[in-house]
Amino acid sequence: MGDGTACLRGSDFLDISQLDANQLTCILDLAAEIKAGRWRGAPLGGRTLALLFQKPSIRTRVSFEVAVRRLGGSTVVLDDADVGLGRRESVADVARVLDRYVDGVVARLHAHRDLVELARFARCPVVNALTDGSHPCQVLADLLTVREVLGRLDGSVRVAFVGDGNNVARSLMEAAHLLGLRLAVVSPPEYRPHDPGSPFVQVTSDLAAVAGADVVYTDVWASMGQEGEASVRRARFAEYQVTEELMATAPDAVFLHCLPAHRGEEVAAAVIDGPRSRVFDQAENRLWAQMALLALIYEAG
Ligand code: CP
Ligand code: NVA
Repeated sequence: MGDGTACLRGSDFLDISQLDANQLTCILDLAAEIKAGRWRGAPLGGRTLALLFQKPSIRTRVSFEVAVRRLGGSTVVLDDADVGLGRRESVADVARVLDRYVDGVVARLHAHRDLVELARFARCPVVNALTDGSHPCQVLADLLTVREVLGRLDGSVRVAFVGDGNNVARSLMEAAHLLGLRLAVVSPPEYRPHDPGSPFVQVTSDLAAVAGADVVYTDVWASMGQEGEASVRRARFAEYQVTEELMATAPDAVFLHCLPAHRGEEVAAAVIDGPRSRVFDQAENRLWAQMALLALIYEAG
């Protein structure tokens, strides 16, 4: 499993940008094999992973718990109310203690810098389960879904992300740059992400960039931790709802959303519940993509 260039054995997984195109393709290929029932292994046999969540989750938490168990391992789920990361105890000390007990840490943290600190001080692999900076495990599942739906994942694929240019958009931009996908990130001016200067990524506020896309993707307007800004954001993002009219400008496009979704805000109910929506396939693919990721990190050999 995996050739020399694709091996992730013992690695942290903090961002898509740490991968090369071979490694990314290797994860997706193995995910497809596992999903098809053609690969069975238990590289986590006898191992325990800690799942540390500072924010709510359903998809990430359940898909990681199931993934670890299917790979032969077990989990310890840690609530930040008990751990008090950075408050009760420094991030560095939590990292140094955890890795005396467990073989890896999957962490959903507010601050990306805390994740980097955790990974710096933990000798075991650390996996990013979402931070304010990025959501790379989500994007592994997104890429698997796009490849399944379109049958390709190359420079002929056009993705339009409409919405807040934060964690999910940033990981998508890294993936587009790596694979040469053509990605337009369409956000209100004050919520545009930093333009990475990639020839494959366009950052704009002009919804015309959605026209002709193969995939239209959106995310919540107010992310976890930004609930206090929700009403301001609703006003600023109002024009950027993915409506049936906007989808009509990309007549062959499928619709993706990382979920949770707010119907009537970032997406019209008719779109997310309509025939072009693939959001539950996308959610399912979190499991297969993360099984592949963990299998490669804990690859026997
Ligand atoms: N998409 C996603 O990460 O969902 P959860 O917040 O439920 O984990
Ligand atoms: N941008 C969203 C993604 C949720 C999966 C958030 O950070 O809340």
